[in-house]
Amino acid sequence: MKPIFLANWKMNILPAEVKEFAKNFLSQITPDANYADIGFAAPYTTLAALVDGFRGVKGILTGAQNCHWADNGAFTGEVSAKMLKDVGVNFVIIGHSERRQFFGETDETVAKRSVKALKEGLIAVVCVGETKAEYEAGRTKEIVSRQLKGSLADVTAEMTHALIIAYEPVWAIGTGLTATPEIAQSVHASIRSELTALYNANVAGAIPIIYGGSAKTDNIASLVAQPDINGGLVGGASLKPDTFAQLVQAGRQVYK
Ligand code: PGA
Repeated sequence: MKPIFLANWKMNILPAEVKEFAKNFLSQITPDANYADIGFAAPYTTLAALVDGFRGVKGILTGAQNCHWADNGAFTGEVSAKMLKDVGVNFVIIGHSERRQFFGETDETVAKRSVKALKEGLIAVVCVGETKAEYEAGRTKEIVSRQLKGSLADVTAEMTHALIIAYEPVWAIGTGLTATPEIAQSVHASIRSELTALYNANVAGAIPIIYGGSAKTDNIASLVAQPDINGGLVGGASLKPDTFAQLVQAGRQVYK
């Protein structure tokens, strides 16, 4: 499986900044028209500019950072998967730890959002990951297993062709602390076996499991060189076209 590199811009990047970003990024990176291995997840207000900025460029995915499970209705502050389809994005991040930590996201709501996104034809990037306290208590695999089972409760094997799992240890996000490739690999392998138990080995083997948490140009290659690490979800290092282009380049090398 070729690695996939997704930028998570979080609450950054204005619409007016996208054109220049895209131009600069595309001057350093040649997208793969046959295999979209690069994507950008922007804030809602930047989505139209993001879609516009990469219009006609094959091999680049555009995405949002959350979606609701209803099509429309009295849900102040929410945006539906249908609305994301309408604006033209391809994927959506669901259950990011910042949403779980600060906005009351639970496995149950992640499950509802994920199924809806997949049914609408979006790629769902479902995030799991343990906190620092859970990591230190040796509970990583137990927590990740619970999150996976809960978050994928209603996702059928047929829906998984558009599913990506992101393993993001909370203690590594935005902290500069990266899980070592060995630690990350061991959790990714346990995620793969959990997916095998939920579906079967064939299905589990085809689901990309990407790593997030202070992924950078200088550590991405050793991460994606691991057998069960199929790419990265990148926050801080994705905010500048140069740093993200260098990261993608470094990550792509591994498979050459
Ligand atoms: P980071 O964020 O790369 O800044 O650690 C990753 C993420 O939260 O998706």
